[in-house]
Amino acid sequence: MSATGPLPSAHPGARRAEGPPVSAVLTPGRDPASPLGRRLIDDAFLDDPYPTYEALREAGPIHWSEEFFGGAWLLTRHDDVESMLRDARFSAQRTGGWVMNSGDGARAELQGFQRLFARAMLFRDAPDHQRLRRVLHAGFRPDVLQRLVPDVEALVDQLLDGIDADCGFDFMQRVARPLPARVIARMMGIECDDEARFITWSDDLAAFIGAPMPTLQQARRAQHSLLDMGRYFQSRLTRRAFSADDLVGRLAHAASDGSIEEGAELLAQCAMLLFAGHETTRNLLGNGLYHLLSRPGLWSDLQREPGRLTGAVRELLRFDSPVQYTGRRVAADLVLHGQPLRRGELVIGLIGAANRDPRRYDDPDRLDIARRAFAPLSFGSGPHVCIGAALTLIEAEVAFRHLLRRWPGLQLTQAQQKWNRNPLYRGLSVLCVHDNADVRRTH
Ligand code: HEM
Repeated sequence: MSATGPLPSAHPGARRAEGPPVSAVLTPGRDPASPLGRRLIDDAFLDDPYPTYEALREAGPIHWSEEFFGGAWLLTRHDDVESMLRDARFSAQRTGGWVMNSGDGARAELQGFQRLFARAMLFRDAPDHQRLRRVLHAGFRPDVLQRLVPDVEALVDQLLDGIDADCGFDFMQRVARPLPARVIARMMGIECDDEARFITWSDDLAAFIGAPMPTLQQARRAQHSLLDMGRYFQSRLTRRAFSADDLVGRLAHAASDGSIEEGAELLAQCAMLLFAGHETTRNLLGNGLYHLLSRPGLWSDLQREPGRLTGAVRELLRFDSPVQYTGRRVAADLVLHGQPLRRGELVIGLIGAANRDPRRYDDPDRLDIARRAFAPLSFGSGPHVCIGAALTLIEAEVAFRHLLRRWPGLQLTQAQQKWNRNPLYRGLSVLCVHDNADVRRTH
């Protein structure tokens, strides 16, 4: 915790106050003026949020902003974000207002969306969260992931085989988008011929989840995709189209022994798993490659010393996190840094700002692949810490290792990169690169 005032003590298992679901409690608004006297989320922020994060972080540890969901507290410092994620007085149940207040509030029409969305483990508190996490945990054990490595190697090879790097290619389209879709499909035991459909579902959900003020149209598209995912998985479950050790099989087994409820709860976990690894891993691959190629000499350094790749991926995660923030609802009134927070208010932990907090990291704006420091908050912390973290690290390391081996002369193609402008899932929509034959010849 920061020295300016720690969160009042609590442990992750603490009970929340009794009463209505926190997402249903209305609280009075706070000072509508922007904390920096200007809009936080503008085009410059969407291309490079780090100067704004720095200004916010140095202006104070907590700010009220109307630009996130009509009003939310922003936490900017590493210790505060980490503590919030570990503290049960901040509830993960936050989908009600989020879904139902999209656009001008088309409540009835979005009920189907809310019913399914709210059941995902990510948005549940203990004890339901622990029950669901226990079921899924077995599917992400280290031995299970180790067995998957040859499959990931083969999937990367397949994707790279089809590319003529001398002519240049869009890394996002050819590698970063399809790879996570194929890997999670393999883990879930579902066919890859539905890949384009998976990616569309994932894109629709990412646009909604990543919008600080979702429009009705974004909510409708996300609902359409989520319900479609639900039907897709229901049909597989009805036909028993899974095997015992794939993720869908594990969930089905848990439903048969009563650890998971049939219907919405089961389908919500399937949909969440299919979605959770796409946008995130895609952006680790894209942001990572972009930063490695942007710094002269780094690509060739890694070629000479591939053993440094593990540290490099960790540092890339810190430096430009694919997930820039996450939210919680205040479950019981509390005071933080002298600021009263009321039950039901939304708190956003700015992971991207926390990862560049100079109180935690020396020279935080420098990408240093040799950095030996605290793990970044990119995978979150506490009970909801990312269950797919190890899987993602495998995907990224395998992909970068193959790229380094095949294309020592890989370079950015000038002015052919475009940020996706999603403030939550920060990444590139276009990343054109090519293999420079002159560099290749010198190797
Ligand atoms: C670069 C890649 C990834 C990043 C940066 C990332 C980030 C995160 C973060 C920050 C959280 C915590 C959110 C919160 O506390 O509100 C989280 C949770 C989660 N992630 Fe990831 N993730 C990545 C990849 C994956 C993959 C590949 C999967 C699955 C295949 C996955 C599945 C999940 C699930 C299921 C949760 C919810 C865990 C829970 O509620 O207990 N993630 N992730």
